[in-house]
Amino acid sequence: MTRKLLDQKLAVLGAGKLGGILLRAYLKQKLFSPKRVSATVLHGDKAATLSKGLGVGVTSDNRKAVAEADIVLLCMKPQAIREVLEEIRPHVGEKALVISVAASVPTSYIEQHLGPKVPVVRAMPNTCSAVGCGMTGICRGAHAAAEHLEMARAMFDAVGRTVVVDEKHMDAVTGLSASGPAFAYIILESLAEAGVKVGLPRDVATLLAAQTMKGSASVVLETGDHPALLKDAVTTPAGCTIDGILELEEGKLRVTLIKAVVKATLRAGELLFEK
Ligand SMILES: NC(=O)c1ccc[n+]([C@@H]2O[C@H](COP(=O)([O-])OP(=O)(O)OC[C@H]3O[C@@H](n4cnc5c(N)ncnc54)[C@H](OP(=O)(O)O)[C@@H]3O)[C@@H](O)[C@H]2O)c1
Repeated sequence: MTRKLLDQKLAVLGAGKLGGILLRAYLKQKLFSPKRVSATVLHGDKAATLSKGLGVGVTSDNRKAVAEADIVLLCMKPQAIREVLEEIRPHVGEKALVISVAASVPTSYIEQHLGPKVPVVRAMPNTCSAVGCGMTGICRGAHAAAEHLEMARAMFDAVGRTVVVDEKHMDAVTGLSASGPAFAYIILESLAEAGVKVGLPRDVATLLAAQTMKGSASVVLETGDHPALLKDAVTTPAGCTIDGILELEEGKLRVTLIKAVVKATLRAGELLFEK
């Protein structure tokens, strides 16, 4: 599939934070050929800077960018999606695959605004894609075939891991793994701050906190063991860890994290309908 992508013409519309991360990764990994890639942003001055930095054509002309594209990757904010879909509708090729990473925007909405039969894949990646450790949930629209889903999967596998989910779960994926890095950074920062409080130099404390979180996540992914079992293995009876856990329970860390994901999930369902 990755060989197949090399022959495809890709248009990335809205090459901001996330679009830029994906585009940079694709170019670095030679997943797409630079001469077959074009991108857009809203502001012309940003387009020129980005074009210079990436070595691909970047403009603010969405119509031109999609005209010959085999794959159109929509990366603008949900609130800008409608306008862009209406703008590109007459110019998107009949067989082009449209992939959207916009939170809150259902595949049916894109189909409705781009015309019947357009193959659409909805994806929800996260910013950890910048270092190849991304997590993306994908689902397909009514007219996307298995081959379209595989193509999208290859594009997100290139920047981390991909899971296919039912579309009804996409807001939950947004609340958990797309917002998740922000929650994880707050936990990490707090652990590092704690290290400073108990006397460690800040750089050492940050390294200890970051590598510990990375290691713990790797153990869960590699063993498949339940996190509670792994936690029990660290918790010696009458040792230090249980004293720390008591503080976490008293501070309601678990319920706070659960509520954070629930709130972010609910919010993910609202964005499209705002101006
Ligand atoms: N950031 C995340 O962690 C994350 C994770 C998963 C999904 N997403 C989704 O990714 C999308 C973008 O988020 P982001 O954080 O990358 O936002 P962002 O940095 O603001 O990027 C949005 C980009 O869209 C461009 N844009 C706006 N209107 C446009 C138009 N009419 N035509 C062409 N380009 C246009 C902007 O151009 P200018 O730069 O010129 O203003 C900007 O480059 C959102 O839908 C979000 O739900 C984000």
